Amino acid sequence: MKIAILSRDGSLYSCKRLREAAEQRGHSIDIIDPLSCYMNINPAAPSIHYRGRRLERYDAVIPRIGSAMTFYGTAVLRQFELLGSYPLNESLAITRARDKLHSLQLLARQGIDLPITGFAHSPDDTGDLIELVGGAPLVVKLVEGTQGIGVVLAETRQAAESVIDAFRGLNAHILVQEYIREAKGSDIRCLVVGGRVVAAIERQAKPGEFRSNLHRGGTARKVHITGKERATAIKAAMTLGLDVAGVDILRADRGPLVMEVNASPGLEGVETTTGLDIAGIMLEYVEQRVRPSLRLKSGR
Ligand SMILES: Nc1ncnc2c1ncn2[C@@H]1O[C@H](COP(=O)(O)OP(=O)(O)O)[C@@H](O)[C@H]1O
Ligand SMILES: [Mg+2]
Repeated sequence: MKIAILSRDGSLYSCKRLREAAEQRGHSIDIIDPLSCYMNINPAAPSIHYRGRRLERYDAVIPRIGSAMTFYGTAVLRQFELLGSYPLNESLAITRARDKLHSLQLLARQGIDLPITGFAHSPDDTGDLIELVGGAPLVVKLVEGTQGIGVVLAETRQAAESVIDAFRGLNAHILVQEYIREAKGSDIRCLVVGGRVVAAIERQAKPGEFRSNLHRGGTARKVHITGKERATAIKAAMTLGLDVAGVDILRADRGPLVMEVNASPGLEGVETTTGLDIAGIMLEYVEQRVRPSLRLKSGR
């Protein structure tokens, strides 16, 4: 197959591993910087151009679109979809997952358990909003934050009000969320590929920190998940329409709660912790999805 990886930086761990896995399986692979793609959006002959040449059609495209370029990155991915490439995560699903508020609403609609979460526009409602999620301590997060940046724990009501007002003053969209204290700074990252949990790790925040993100100094170890956790992770990925997803679950007293679903989960933490070949599993899934249609076209 001819596969494109959409990424700004081919030297990143996940990108390198996907390239290696694809080459090992005999595919040709190009790493394409989405910000250097330009497009002709034309019903008769849509095209993608890259650094002065027109791209040929790819059988599959693997998006690794950073949160800072969701808008242009998903536009480029849509163009690949228009040209008939199979996307390992559709543009629409990525857009949904990038908006924490939208994705939580979709998950709630499917009956998936979540931390109690509030959202409001007017500063007049701050007091009520805090009550709604059960008062302090609570977590305030930017709707489009990532890597733990823009996630704040407010221990007291007064702190919560100041943080909410400060974010509002910056015109940022925020969520206010019940703090799951019993999770003790740890969460479970389930990697879902094609409707299966292929790996799970537990991440633990460094001492004095409540955010477990590896980018914030968290550590990871292998973990066994329960049947309910597995089913929850799969349902969350499917609800958002993601083929590949990193589903983050908090172990609360009342059961597993989905905290967020990542559309472009990093492979380094999961592969090095579990020793599994996740890149290979992802490529195998692409082959299953693309090969039947290739066979159909060639009449084999
Ligand atoms: N409601 C919560 N209760 C307890 N811990 C939380 C809660 N929300 C977030 N955290 C901690 O903060 C980290 C970052 O939050 P998250 O919503 O995943 O934002 P990001 O997209 O920046 O990773 C999580 O991995 C978790 O450890
Ligand atoms: Mg997270």
